[in-house]
Amino acid sequence: MSQLFVRKSIADCEDDLVERGGLKRSLGKWHLTALGVGATIGAGIFATTGTAIVGDAMRPGAGPAIIFSFLLTALTCGFAALCYAEFAAMVPISGSAYTYAYASLGELVAWIIGWDLIIEYAVGNIGVAIGWAGYFRELLTHFGVALPAWLATDYRSAHMAVEAIAGGGASPANSYLASAVSGAPHLFGVPVIFNLPAFLIVALITVILVIGIRESANSNNAMVLLKIAIILFFCAVGATLIRPIHWHNPATGGFAPNGFKGISAGAAIIFFSYIGFDATSTAAEESRDPGRDMPFGIIMSLIICTVLYIILSVVMTGMADWRQLGTAEPMITALALADGSPALLNAARFIVALGAVIAMSSVLLVFQLGQPRIFMSMARDGLLPPFLARVHPRFKTPWIGTILTGLFVAVFAAFANIAEVVDLTNIGTLFAFVIVSVGVIVLRYKEPDRVRPFRAPLVPITPIISIISCGYLMTQLPRLTWIRFGIWLVAGLFIYFLYSVRHSRLRARARAG
Ligand code: ALA
Repeated sequence: MSQLFVRKSIADCEDDLVERGGLKRSLGKWHLTALGVGATIGAGIFATTGTAIVGDAMRPGAGPAIIFSFLLTALTCGFAALCYAEFAAMVPISGSAYTYAYASLGELVAWIIGWDLIIEYAVGNIGVAIGWAGYFRELLTHFGVALPAWLATDYRSAHMAVEAIAGGGASPANSYLASAVSGAPHLFGVPVIFNLPAFLIVALITVILVIGIRESANSNNAMVLLKIAIILFFCAVGATLIRPIHWHNPATGGFAPNGFKGISAGAAIIFFSYIGFDATSTAAEESRDPGRDMPFGIIMSLIICTVLYIILSVVMTGMADWRQLGTAEPMITALALADGSPALLNAARFIVALGAVIAMSSVLLVFQLGQPRIFMSMARDGLLPPFLARVHPRFKTPWIGTILTGLFVAVFAAFANIAEVVDLTNIGTLFAFVIVSVGVIVLRYKEPDRVRPFRAPLVPITPIISIISCGYLMTQLPRLTWIRFGIWLVAGLFIYFLYSVRHSRLRARARAG
């Protein structure tokens, strides 16, 4: 029983690092910030903001008060970020939260975190791929290509659009999605509806990653500038189209039509747009001075994203009636609904769609790259089968894990509904944040003298606030999401007890004395 909580000491982590050579320490504080921003700005802001503003069948929307949702989530992430920063600076080894948990809370919790990170990375990427496909479809229309809806959405979204129209919610976006139901070919009596672009982009990224092309720090910097430029471009064009009445129109429920309930439900959704700042911590092994630069990178990327998100949401909700923005491409919808010169609006739609497609491709790349490396860390520790740690002889990439991740993400991206995927990603990631925050407290207590290049302020208050606020956002997610998450964790525990306990390298070392 005590073996369940056997901890991998930080010295063990460092030994492992020496054994396999470690990575080159070349990243400075702005590189790390760019890494965080690059991994963060993606489908969350480009695609899920619409649902957070309008709500859906399971929850109310925030309306124009979405800016408070962004602030609430930023604060939550800020407290979690301080905990991540303490760990990342102290355990500057790749593997992120999984490694930290192994060092502080023991093997079982590390397993749970590693299993849970699959939700953050792989399931998260399903959401990004679906968001990508929405903007890609818009982009194609500018080249005169109109994809039939049955090839560009999922079964559930199509049926939700049919129900929305029946309930009086007719809109061009709903009509398009609903046309998937009427236009779908049938196979053995079953309508064939799937998201082909989402499937194809994941397949393409997987091939790229198997071959081993990865973003260099320089191309990431260029990508970050592009993301910031696209958001600022949208804000600049959008600012000329604002009608202030949209922010507080009594006819549409005023500024906060669903009060704090709407704001907090929105916060739990747009949490997705913040996921990724923690990815900075996965580069700890490549950081020049992790003690100083890691906390800077994590917190600075959080601040930059928050400022951009808030400006964008102020502009977007000023451009149109908030009730119309509930699509998977809300920026495009806002431009489509705004009053302005058709030529300018059309050009802006094209530029935003192109920028969003490129921006989301980079998030796909980062997360799709991260997942097999987490598998690799776990396989090296013996918690997953060794083939997941195998490196391709020619391409030098963890190709089996990369292909398995690609298959999983591509198939679900073809059939899943974005809101459901985002909810599951959020609950899993919030749970990981909770465990990291608990880990900070535990390690302060168990190893008070360990050198901490960065100390989260006011421990245990900071981690406790992080635990409570992440826990609160979790409670704002639908019941069905909790059930799915529970099933996922139970499945993980089965694998742990059937496979991992017998193959753990750390247990083998402990047994050998
Ligand atoms: N934060 C990432 C995104 O929004 C997951 O795409």
